[in-house]
Amino acid sequence: MNIDLELLKRFEDGLDPEHPERSAIPAKILGYGEISTIFEIDAESTKEIACKRMAIFRTDQEVSEYENIYNGYNTLLEKEIRIGVPDYGFAWFFSAKGNIVAFDIQAKLAPESIANRALHLMNTETVRALFLLIIRELAKVWEFNRLHPDRAIGIDGQISNWSLAGFNPSNPQISPDSRLLYFDTSTPLMKAGGVEQLNPELFLRSAPSFLRWLIRCFFLTGVMTRYYDARLVTIDIIANLYKEQRPELVEPMVDTANGYFTGEGSRFGVKPLTVKEIESYYKEDSRIWIVFLALRRFDRWLHKRILHKPYIYILPGHIKR
Ligand SMILES: Nc1ncnc2c1ncn2[C@@H]1O[C@H](COP(=O)(O)OP(=O)(O)OP(=O)(O)O)[C@@H](O)[C@H]1O
Ligand SMILES: [Mg+2]
Repeated sequence: MNIDLELLKRFEDGLDPEHPERSAIPAKILGYGEISTIFEIDAESTKEIACKRMAIFRTDQEVSEYENIYNGYNTLLEKEIRIGVPDYGFAWFFSAKGNIVAFDIQAKLAPESIANRALHLMNTETVRALFLLIIRELAKVWEFNRLHPDRAIGIDGQISNWSLAGFNPSNPQISPDSRLLYFDTSTPLMKAGGVEQLNPELFLRSAPSFLRWLIRCFFLTGVMTRYYDARLVTIDIIANLYKEQRPELVEPMVDTANGYFTGEGSRFGVKPLTVKEIESYYKEDSRIWIVFLALRRFDRWLHKRILHKPYIYILPGHIKR
């Protein structure tokens, strides 16, 4: 993928992390994750790309290792597991202030094709078809992991991580030819020789320093291992329907998942899911993220008002749950 490194450097020099849209070269927000913000840089050479900025690396060795894993993960998904990913690239440099800044770069996908947006146009039956499409894509991962446990990969199958190729909002249907692209590849969980390749400490960097030990103890292993487990990933996808403000879909999708895992997907040995466990999982999960984001905002306030130090991370705005 062609990347205009000079432009990225100029963008970084003029970046206002608190208000990316007011930067010297403005950025338009495309979407928020729990940790990062995806944006489009408002310039001629970048109008077809989506960027995720990561200011978490401390050494060039760290960033090169990440780059290898990121590329390896995308290649494995695309070439071996055969899940489509958008065109991608990676760029990093030392900013004028001397810190390492990296960008995950992807072809920009049509906003209306992002499955959680498309979801809002769909009735229950169409959502069921979409969910089955996702479950079947994920099955390729579970199958790969079953055959190659030493090279297993983790995946976050949430509806907001898929794009429906060629989706037409004025005819919001899913057909047997509908194709999905998986784009949330910035947390490339993968094993080599049975050992996790991604350094979990990296993901603590943007957390307030006073919290890191806590997250490390109670939280990190759970989050890192959850994405290797077919049952937990499925629970996570369904639980997110609450966040998407479609709670009425939870029960039918539990039925759909159970139907799949007792029939076509029985070889994965996934025990039946219940609506109750989805509910309590969501309560727990959203509480964690609400607290986490509040503490990061507090940390930003501390940096600005008390420590008088720059705060270099872009935080998500308000997230409706
Ligand atoms: N290539 C892209 N084109 C258009 N929009 C995108 C693209 N990548 C991401 N987005 C938008 O940004 C949102 C979040 O992106 P993504 O899923 O990659 O981040 P995330 O991994 O969930 O963040 P985090 O890891 O911090 O939780 C997506 O749901 C989508 O709306
Ligand atoms: Mg995501």
